[in-house]
Amino acid sequence: MGYSSSVFQDASQKIYEKRLKSEKRAEARRLEIYARFPRARELEQEIASCGVAAAKTVLRGGDVVAEMTKLKEKNLALQAELNQLLIDSGYGENALEVQYSCPKCNDTGYYEWQGRTVMCTCMKQQLVASACEELNRTAPLSLCTFDSFDIEKYSKAVDPKTGVVPYSQMSKIFKYCQSYARNFTPASESLLMRGATGLGKTHLSLAIANEVIQRGYGVIYVSAPALLSKLEKEYFSRTETGDTAGTLRSCDLLIIDDLGSEFRTQFSVSQIYEIFNARILQHKPVIISTNFNMAELEKAYTNRFVSRINGAAQKLDFLGEDIRIRKKI
Ligand SMILES: Nc1ncnc2c1ncn2[C@@H]1O[C@H](COP(=O)(O)OP(=O)(O)OP(=O)(O)O)[C@@H](O)[C@H]1O
Ligand SMILES: [Mg+2]
Ligand SMILES: [Zn+2]
Repeated sequence: MGYSSSVFQDASQKIYEKRLKSEKRAEARRLEIYARFPRARELEQEIASCGVAAAKTVLRGGDVVAEMTKLKEKNLALQAELNQLLIDSGYGENALEVQYSCPKCNDTGYYEWQGRTVMCTCMKQQLVASACEELNRTAPLSLCTFDSFDIEKYSKAVDPKTGVVPYSQMSKIFKYCQSYARNFTPASESLLMRGATGLGKTHLSLAIANEVIQRGYGVIYVSAPALLSKLEKEYFSRTETGDTAGTLRSCDLLIIDDLGSEFRTQFSVSQIYEIFNARILQHKPVIISTNFNMAELEKAYTNRFVSRINGAAQKLDFLGEDIRIRKKI
């Protein structure tokens, strides 16, 4: 699945809280029933003592079969009386059992299937929700969707510098990104979004993230400055622990936004290369967005890095006028 460990922890915690809530609710109901119908408690105690008596009978030996048959009959009669009491009282037959919100896994997140432990759909849904939450903490995920992307923001006049019409170029990119998200697999190709500021690179990469997360994949979206400051902290400090680099290498889709805007050092350049290279070798996709052109990328991150990108990533060249400025007009 490729989720970060913090997403996993959060989802597991939420499932655990759900289980606790179900159990607390059952306990409260049990006490309420006992208070209103003391006979229910007696019956439960008698049923329990039948079990103890059965164990003792087996240990003692003698006419075990006859004894056990008697105990079994007694047990069934007690059960029947208890069930009837619960039905008559209006609580329902299963009122003394814990009602889990997911009966498939009893709110544990996992269940046994053909001798294997498998992840329940409720845990998968929780992982998606936790991943969205985590992403939303750093980026306006809910605002940047394909639906809120307006293609009319791009000019239909030929761009004199490139000889291309921004509207048609951006229509192609928009459709490409939509189909990329819809057909995403952890073996999808990488993307390099290039272009000047305010042209929708972050918007479209978040729209992809949104859809890919909804489809159940593990997505990490991070801006290059945030990524490097986290890696630096982890690498150079003794107190900070974590496996950011490992998560960045293993998630299904890694989105590095604003490459080039980070403070560049030998450390940052080598880290970016290592992460990108490790993912490319495993055929795992990365989406990079940057204001840099190829020459600037090469200057900043070595030609080794650029030749890797050239070989592995689909290049999307964003065109148009700064939408941040257009929005204000
Ligand atoms: N086609 C669009 N339709 C609607 N809103 C858009 C569109 N493109 C961009 N925006 C909005 O305009 C603002 C700037 O866009 P965005 O942040 O995606 O630009 P960018 O290319 O990432 O710029 P930078 O290079 O500075 O990071 C954002 O609020 C974004 O949601
Ligand atoms: Mg951006
Ligand atoms: Zn479940």
